[in-house]
Amino acid sequence: MCMRAKSWTCNFPNGIFPRQDHQTLGIRIFGADFCFIILEQESMQLIDGKAVAARFKDQIAAEVQELKASNGKTPHLVAILVGTNGASETYVAHKVKACGELGFKSTLVRFDETVTEAELLDKVREINEDDDMDGLIVQLPLPAHINPDRVMETIHPAKDVDGFHPINIGRMAKGLPAYISATPQGCLMLLEHYGIETAGKHCVVVGRSQIVGLPMSILMQRNTYPGNCTVTITHSKTKNLAEICRQADILVGALGRPEFITADMVKEGAVVLDVGLERVPDATKKSGFSLKGDVKFDEVAPKTSFITPVPGGVGQMTIISLMQNTLLAAKGEIYQK
Ligand code: GUN
Repeated sequence: MCMRAKSWTCNFPNGIFPRQDHQTLGIRIFGADFCFIILEQESMQLIDGKAVAARFKDQIAAEVQELKASNGKTPHLVAILVGTNGASETYVAHKVKACGELGFKSTLVRFDETVTEAELLDKVREINEDDDMDGLIVQLPLPAHINPDRVMETIHPAKDVDGFHPINIGRMAKGLPAYISATPQGCLMLLEHYGIETAGKHCVVVGRSQIVGLPMSILMQRNTYPGNCTVTITHSKTKNLAEICRQADILVGALGRPEFITADMVKEGAVVLDVGLERVPDATKKSGFSLKGDVKFDEVAPKTSFITPVPGGVGQMTIISLMQNTLLAAKGEIYQK
């Protein structure tokens, strides 16, 4: 919780302190009343993705044990990683680690950067046919010679726990049972966990990626909770971006540009969800980089009612959503086995 100083010095010669909603500290000097500080009672709340994720982890781990006990099934996630992109290596390592912690089986399939599209598609088809393997993700981005849409369309929709297949995107848009892509789903879980009102609010999504921006915009307009927002989706060709962002009650930063969203783009009291996670060179760090979100946190946070930090915000929930989807796949709850 934080208290924001709204105004610093003022003088009320008639001795009336006008703002009942503010805490006023007053003194009398030489017969005149001064209020030397007024603290606004509104507060900014940090959305603690790590703490929320920990609670979901316990719940998912318990469900995995139940599934194992009831029908001997261990949920199995397969991740395909092409090349050695540092960020992708880290993401996939986190996913594999989460599998171990929650009692899932995991298989990591690695391909060299030079793998052909045909070879990759053959592997996807082989995994589609393997009944023991419940969920399959192919880590993005892929090398330029591989068409990611072709790869996503080759994954069987019932195993597409990333929710990237056109059938899952279409089903999600219609409000039918579907795997919902992990990062937007993680954002919704955070909104719900903190009881943040969404109906009738203006949600501005900055970025139209297939992974986050597009699905997030669809989810936030659905007739459900969280949802029922008036949604604006913005992108690189949007004019008056700052002006549109300032209209947001809920602002989602998902464009992948470090600290792009600055305080002047944010309305007082807005809810800010920062989906960005970029590596920025930092000579003071052993790794040589630090992680930054799309939001310039230090200057934006004091203006908000709720905000996610980076790291420790949305990213934590992305993995939880992926694990949830894999559990659903193992149980055959979205598509019957
Ligand atoms: N690259 C960045 N985010 C993701 C994700 O959620 N899934 C996959 N497959 N690749 C990604």
